[in-house]
Amino acid sequence: MGSYEPLIKAIQEKVLDSTSFGAPTELEIEMAELIKSMAPNVDLVRMVSSGTEACMSALRLARGFTSRNKFIKFEGCYHGHADAFLVKAGSGVATFNIQTVPGITGGVSNDTLTAPYNNLEAVEKLVSDNKDQIAAIIIEPVAGNMGCIPPAPGFLEGLRKICDQENIVLIFDEVMTGFRLARGGAQERFNINADLVTYGKVIGGGMPVGAFGGKQEIMKHIAPLGNVYQAGTLSGNPIAMIAGYTLLRALNEHPSIFSELEEKTSYLSSGLNKVLKESQTPYVINQVGSMISVHFSKEPVVDFATSGSADIKLFNKFFHAMLRRGVYLPPSAFESWFVCNALTKEDIDYTIDAARESLKEISAQ
Ligand SMILES: Cc1ncc(COP(=O)(O)O)c(C=O)c1O
Repeated sequence: MGSYEPLIKAIQEKVLDSTSFGAPTELEIEMAELIKSMAPNVDLVRMVSSGTEACMSALRLARGFTSRNKFIKFEGCYHGHADAFLVKAGSGVATFNIQTVPGITGGVSNDTLTAPYNNLEAVEKLVSDNKDQIAAIIIEPVAGNMGCIPPAPGFLEGLRKICDQENIVLIFDEVMTGFRLARGGAQERFNINADLVTYGKVIGGGMPVGAFGGKQEIMKHIAPLGNVYQAGTLSGNPIAMIAGYTLLRALNEHPSIFSELEEKTSYLSSGLNKVLKESQTPYVINQVGSMISVHFSKEPVVDFATSGSADIKLFNKFFHAMLRRGVYLPPSAFESWFVCNALTKEDIDYTIDAARESLKEISAQ
C-alpha cells in the first residue's frame, strides 16, 4: 500500500460509516467546514467535480432564486464550458479565436449579456436596459483567462453596489483565485463578499473537485433543501475529497505561503521588467499575488480588447523560445501564469535569464 496507506485509512474512517443515500460523508462535512472557516460569507457548500459544474450550478441557483433568466458575464472571462458561458469567452475559446461556438442555441446565448471587464458604465447600461430580468453577474475577480488582468480600483465594489440595488446575485468565480490569492481568496484580498462563490483547481489538490457556496438564504434553494436540482455521481468522492482536504488544511495551517508566493512573484516580475526594458519590446506586466502575465502591448491591458490587441504572435514565439530553454509557460497569451511555491530563487533567476536569452533570439530573427 505504501504511501496510499493514510489515504485508505482516512477513507475507511470517514466515508464507509456513512450509509444513508445522498447524505454527505463525514469527510465532505469536514471539507465544507474547512472551506467555511477559510472563506468569508460562505454559509453552505455543495461539492461537485469541476469548475464548470460549479459555475453552471451557481448560475442555475441564481436563476432559480431570483426567477429571472438573463445574466451578465464579462468579455474574455471563462467560467467553464457550459453553454451559457461560451459567449465572448476567454481561455481556449480566445486562443483558437472561436467567435461563435457551434451547438449553442440562440435561445441560450440570448440570455447571456456581456460587458467589457473593468467597465462599470457598460454594466449599468445593461442593468437598466434589462430591468428586473438579470439574475446574476458572474466575474473572475482577477481575470486569468485573457492573461492576468486586475480589477480596476472600485470596479468590484461598484458591481457589489449594483447587485445590492437591483437584487442581482453577485457570483465570484474563484476557480483560479480561490485559496490562491489569500486564505479566503479574492473575497478576502479585496474585502468584498459575493453572494455565491465557485471553486475548482486548488480545492482538489490535483484531483477533480469543484464547489460552490454562499449565503444560506440563497443556498437553501438547492435540492434537497429546495427545488433547484443539482447532483453528481462523483460529487464528493472520497479520493478527491481527501486530496483537496489535505491541501486546504496545509494552506490553512501555513498561511504564510500566500505572502511567500507573492514575494516570489514580485521578484519574478521585477526581473522580467528589467529584461523586457533592456530588450526594448513594448510590454505590460500585470500581477496580483501569485498570478502574473506578460502582455506584449504598448497600452495598459485592462480588458479583452486590450489583451487581444497585444502582439499574440510575439507571445507564441516567446513561449517556444522559453520552452527550448526548459521553462514551460502557459501555452497561450490568454492564460495567467501561476507561480508555484516549490520554485526556488534559483529557479526564478533561471527563468529571468531564459527570458533575456529568448528575447535576444527573437529580435535576431
Ligand atoms: C475562472 C475559471 N472558471 C471556471 C473554469 C472551469 O473549470 P474546469 O476546467 O474545472 O471545468 C476555469 C477553468 O480554467 C476557470 O479558469
